[in-house]
Amino acid sequence: MNARDRFHIAATGGKPDRPPVWLMRQAGRYLPEYRALKEKHTFVEMVRTPELAAEVTLQPMRRFPLDAAIIFSDILVVPEAMGQAYHFKDAGGIAMDYVLERPGQISALVDTAAAERLAYVPAALRSVRKTLGTERALLGFCGSPWTLATYMVEGGSPGQGGKIKSLYQNDRKSFELLMDKITRVCGDYLLMQIEAGVDALQIFDSWGGLCDEDMLEEATLKWMRRLVERVGGCVPVIVFGRGQSHRAGEVATTGAQVLSLDHGVDLAAVLASLPTRMSVQGNLDPVYLTGEPGPAVEATRALLATTRTTGRHIFNLGHGITPQARVETVGAVIEAVAGGG
Ligand code: CP3
Repeated sequence: MNARDRFHIAATGGKPDRPPVWLMRQAGRYLPEYRALKEKHTFVEMVRTPELAAEVTLQPMRRFPLDAAIIFSDILVVPEAMGQAYHFKDAGGIAMDYVLERPGQISALVDTAAAERLAYVPAALRSVRKTLGTERALLGFCGSPWTLATYMVEGGSPGQGGKIKSLYQNDRKSFELLMDKITRVCGDYLLMQIEAGVDALQIFDSWGGLCDEDMLEEATLKWMRRLVERVGGCVPVIVFGRGQSHRAGEVATTGAQVLSLDHGVDLAAVLASLPTRMSVQGNLDPVYLTGEPGPAVEATRALLATTRTTGRHIFNLGHGITPQARVETVGAVIEAVAGGG
């Protein structure tokens, strides 16, 4: 069975020969070859240049027997295409160039034709596909409309999310306008990625956990559901609902085929509670990757054992790889999955 078939079977509720494996933030600062490239180019430059984005995407694919590549990009390319750019802060982390504070700024955001400004992403996808061939799967992605709106209104990582929640609660009209614009651009963007040949798409709802129960549907789920409908079953959609595993059943109503779970959650128990058309992805604690291979491999095997009888599992981390991860431990975990546990 080739990696692409393995991935496709697992992502559509089937049972492949073993769980496929890819890792969130597969490319990044833990790899010396990534750091070398970043000496010469800024992050935004690497994202916007198809040859560089393709190269960064392929770096971990050369090192490890991964079943899928995720395109090197960022969720913040969408706000940038709409007219709100982002940058790396000197102190580390990421910030928007300005903050959305007034309704007039929301009206001024570009929606029609914004996706065309993202043509460098399908260009990178096509280049990766060419090098990767058809043996291994290729994933595209975008942020959830709620998560993107959160960055746009908060100006960076949101803390408690006071500003975005205030927009939702106190100026619903502006909130809906913003969400409608983002959702349309993301829909166009996902269709572009499908056309460029992705095998699956992941929607990162990294800040959906900020939503109280009574706002979940209107603030994030309904917009993701729109995106899933727009993709129209062309490829499987994975939703990463960080901090939302306790309400997996509700996130499942978006129509996603796969739920990506964060660490600390009983993956097999969540799987058992979902409709059988669905699979789960996850959820090794990325902190294991900062230590010796031994404990990481042991935890990987324990996790694999919980889904062995059902399948419907894509192996991944509960969140992104940190810069402190050890390459040798990352390799040992991937080998443990690829070698059948
Ligand atoms: O997973 C992959 O390898 C694909 C590429 C990818 C990146 N960002 C590259 C990246 C993906 C899928 C993302 C998604 C993303 N970006 C999310 C959703 C996932 C999540 O983490 O919850 C979010 C919230 C962002 C926004 C973002 N990008 C932040 C907050 C930061 C700074 C974080 C940090 O660790 O400093 C980034 C930077 C970023 N995006 C890096 C990478 C490889 C680090 C780049 C570097 O320092 O060189």
